[in-house]
Amino acid sequence: MAPHDADGSSRSWQRDHPWAIVYDRISTDPRLGALLWRIGVGSGVGVLHRIAAAELAELPAGAQVLDIPCGGGIALRDLPRDHRLRYLAADISPAMLTRTRGEARALGLDGVETVEMDVGDLPLPDDSVDLVLAFTSLHCFPDPRAAVGEFGRVLLPGGRLALSTMVTDGPLRFRGLWVGGRVAGVLGPGCSRVELKRWLAEDGFTDVEVRPAGGLTYVTATRS
Ligand SMILES: C[S@@+](CC[C@H](N)C(=O)[O-])C[C@H]1O[C@@H](n2cnc3c(N)ncnc32)[C@H](O)[C@@H]1O
Repeated sequence: MAPHDADGSSRSWQRDHPWAIVYDRISTDPRLGALLWRIGVGSGVGVLHRIAAAELAELPAGAQVLDIPCGGGIALRDLPRDHRLRYLAADISPAMLTRTRGEARALGLDGVETVEMDVGDLPLPDDSVDLVLAFTSLHCFPDPRAAVGEFGRVLLPGGRLALSTMVTDGPLRFRGLWVGGRVAGVLGPGCSRVELKRWLAEDGFTDVEVRPAGGLTYVTATRS
């Protein structure tokens, strides 16, 4: 597991580091958590939900979604109860997958499969996924380049990618959060917006839309 984990950030998440528990609470609690998220990230979690809902709404019945890293299942809130999608929620952390299953139950959602996966080495065929959701993601991975490569590999031509990440050339006021995350061992090396756009172009993505929102950058793109 975590073959690309040279600096250990994925292993920390895999072992359910205390920050993973705190993060899950903050990202799912609608009041105090939402406030803390806004203070810490400088934008609301509503941006994530708006993008996820819009992308999911475009998909035909039977489409394959890969939500990685699903964390505690935050994006499940944007999935209609009567959805007809094949929804694969994946994460390296068994504890996060347990939380996702709990969230699916609480929302009354069927058809959500949870699988332990390393984003750097997805056990999925090429050209097999219609939509990859990867929110609050790349900055947590030891090898963000490998993750983007895997998204491009598994997406079908015309498939969509929606992700968010902290970037190394983001606003200075979020630098402390980044340094703290590195010291705690839960953040990887990250990437700049320029690098991310270059990787997406190298991997055949078009229609790349970049939306900065405080300390996070949201990106949507189409696999050509
Ligand atoms: C900040 S959380 C984001 C979760 C969720 N997408 C959200 O927006 O709330 C980062 C997630 O990345 C997962 N993760 C870290 N390294 C991973 C890897 N190599 N493969 C898959 N998931 C990984 C962690 O377990 C954690 O659930």
